[in-house]
Amino acid sequence: MIFNEIESLIDYFKEEIVILAHHYQRDEVYKYGHFTGDSLKLSQLATSQKEAKYIIFCGVHFMAETAAILSGGKQKVILPNLDAGCPMADKAPINEVVSAFSYLKEVFKGKRIVPITYINSTAEVKAFVGRENGYICTSSNADKIFDAAFSRGDMLFFLPDQHLGRNTSYKKGIVGDEIGFWSRKDGLVLSGDKKKIKVILWDGHCWVHQMFQPTHIVHFKRGKEPYKIIVHPECSFEVFKMADYSGSTEQIIKTIENAEDGTYWAVGTEKNLVMRLKRNNPNKTIDILTNFNTICRTMSKIRANDLLNVLKNLKEGKIINEITVSNEIRKYSLIALNNMFSV
Ligand code: 13P
Ligand code: SF4
Repeated sequence: MIFNEIESLIDYFKEEIVILAHHYQRDEVYKYGHFTGDSLKLSQLATSQKEAKYIIFCGVHFMAETAAILSGGKQKVILPNLDAGCPMADKAPINEVVSAFSYLKEVFKGKRIVPITYINSTAEVKAFVGRENGYICTSSNADKIFDAAFSRGDMLFFLPDQHLGRNTSYKKGIVGDEIGFWSRKDGLVLSGDKKKIKVILWDGHCWVHQMFQPTHIVHFKRGKEPYKIIVHPECSFEVFKMADYSGSTEQIIKTIENAEDGTYWAVGTEKNLVMRLKRNNPNKTIDILTNFNTICRTMSKIRANDLLNVLKNLKEGKIINEITVSNEIRKYSLIALNNMFSV
């Protein structure tokens, strides 16, 4: 019943609405996405959907906020459930970020520090990074953004995900005492000479991806089937190093879809995505890397009912759950986003 209602409302609005759905959404919502994707793909889609009056973003708050920045205020962006936030983004409050950065500038006087914020951050943090002419990155382009940022500065300040920052540093050969850490409790933590520092990582992580452990990989590798391990780069360094492949949600899906029938995959990312992959690829063996429940609790706050609710309200001329940003925030966040798009 509810599903018929949603379908007929989507039909009613035709090109007036576009529904964007992140790969971690529940199936009951995901199936209505006009487009599905990872953070990078969805933010690019948000800029290209010029005809639509409304973007209904089935994802988390920072994603809808990014769409609101990129759509330039011309389209209304709606998040079907306002409780769908990202706890990792909340681990970098703007006041702490600003004071940490000014402290680092003092400590590393004479060096040009380029800030990079993972797209999983608040619009205020994105705007701060834009003011400093830094970059936004996503899990699919962090490599390239590191290179671009190093071509413009001596050191990087990477936030909020320490794991994506550490794993990308490792790919660039930056390890050990070349990496500093900004502890939210204790401030700057260095393990060696400050002259060696190339990257400072923020004290943030994703609790979902923290659940994957090296022992889970050992379990699959010890079995008799030739499992390949693929993980999201938000996993810890130990897990990332032991995995055969890593990539954004879109890259994980593409790698497995393009793999030969009969192959074996253990996947280290959110459960809704892995279960869907399993169903859609019956000729491959696909398992989640851990038995822990890796459903992102905030992503999955959006239910079909929430989608129905925003559509019903729209039909009555009411825009509920609109996500907006101020012109000031938009202006500076766009600098950081455009720096990313230009790479
Ligand atoms: P992707 O950009 O890979 O979709 O990741 C977003 C995210 O929140 C992962 O936890
Ligand atoms: Fe945030 Fe982790 Fe959920 Fe992604 S999976 S939205 S990083 S809490």
